[in-house]
Amino acid sequence: MQKKRVAAFMVMAVGMGLGGLVTLLLVLFVARAWWTTPFEVLGFGGAPTQPIAFPHTVHAGVDIILDADGNPKLDTSNQEMNGLGLGCTFCHRNVDKGAAASIPPVEQCIFCHKSIGTDLPEVAKLINAWDNKEAVVWERVHRLPDSVRFVHEPHIRFFTEPGNLMPSGEQATLAANVCSTCHGDVAQMEEVKQVRSLKMGDCVDCHRNYSAPTDCTTCHY
Ligand code: HEC
Ligand code: HEC
Ligand code: HEC
Ligand code: HEC
Ligand code: HEC
Repeated sequence: MQKKRVAAFMVMAVGMGLGGLVTLLLVLFVARAWWTTPFEVLGFGGAPTQPIAFPHTVHAGVDIILDADGNPKLDTSNQEMNGLGLGCTFCHRNVDKGAAASIPPVEQCIFCHKSIGTDLPEVAKLINAWDNKEAVVWERVHRLPDSVRFVHEPHIRFFTEPGNLMPSGEQATLAANVCSTCHGDVAQMEEVKQVRSLKMGDCVDCHRNYSAPTDCTTCHY
């Protein structure tokens, strides 16, 4: 009887110890997710798998493009290929006009891809979508809760105004110069991933630094 009770107590103690540890880990996890970008486990924080592997490096970057084996890719005349250096607003056309930056429709991609890269499997998927009149449903990388209001336009307008230096200390002349403030160097990303927390504390800190509004209704519905 006595022995049984001790055993039960020990099971309970071990259970509580483990429970406590689990709770502690959970609290740490949530606390870190709150203040910074989440841990890259369970798919949080990493780049989501996109329906088509669209590389910003090739389109927005200017560096030499590498093939799957890491060797410089050669064009039909055996020259090393560089990224196209397309401006961010070439595709994200609404970014200096409204709330969402917007992702271009397939039609805009097909403008080039009806003739370019048609032998590449990822481009074949794109052409297939076009032929079947299907939209490509891209996975969102950045996503604020529904209770939060974010508008791109005032940020782009503010930081392209002469005299308003970005946190990096630089003066933006084009809308495309501003993006890296919040999104990092997307032109160098094979897959886009979130690099800045963009949590409430992060937004509010920057708003304070620039005397932008910080009352709750600025960012909450
Ligand atoms: C040729 C068109 C094109 C150009 C040029 C381009 N993008 Fe994109 N961008 C896309 C497409 C398509 C997606 C959706 C697929 C993905 O997330 O990779 C995307 C996704 C993104 C995302 C992630 C959106 C989300 O879901 O949160 C960001 C951020 C972004 N682009 C920023 C940029 C920046 C900054 C530049 C300039 C350096 C740029 N893009 C240039 C087509 C383009
Ligand atoms: C002040 C920070 C900030 C700046 C500067 C910024 N973004 Fe964003 N971007 C965000 C946030 C936050 C989201 C998520 C918005 C949401 O979930 O409602 C986002 C979402 C996006 C998305 C996906 C959803 C959409 O809006 O279509 C794209 C694409 C994007 N940004 C591109 C850009 C480009 C291109 C630039 C530069 C021209 C830029 N962003 C500048 C913070 C920023
Ligand atoms: C201005 C012309 C142009 C536009 C617009 C364009 N692309 Fe491309 N894209 C290229 C070129 C050039 C390449 C490199 C082709 C090669 O490697 O032979 C490429 C490569 C690709 C690849 C293959 C990458 C690889 O190596 O597997 C994909 C996928 C792709 N583009 C998707 C898109 C999507 C999606 C859009 C629209 C959001 C788009 N492209 C818009 C010119 C363009
Ligand atoms: C890099 C600094 C910076 C970051 C980060 C930032 N903002 Fe801003 N935001 C500004 C500035 C500066 C303005 C004011 C522009 C002006 O004066 O018109 C502004 C304006 C706004 C506005 C429009 C306010 C109005 O009514 O005129 C909203 C909404 C907003 N920000 C939401 C957000 C949210 C949500 C986040 C985080 C996801 C965020 N911002 C992150 C600098 C930033
Ligand atoms: C500059 C923009 C900004 C301002 C100002 C702001 N918030 Fe937020 N808030 C956010 C963002 C972004 C999130 C979502 C990310 C996160 O959880 O931190 C958020 C999340 C929250 C949440 C968590 C619930 C949820 O929607 O995920 C609460 C509660 C909240 N805010 C309350 C407030 C209150 C109260 C104020 C005024 C004192 C305020 N916020 C002012 C940007 C802002």
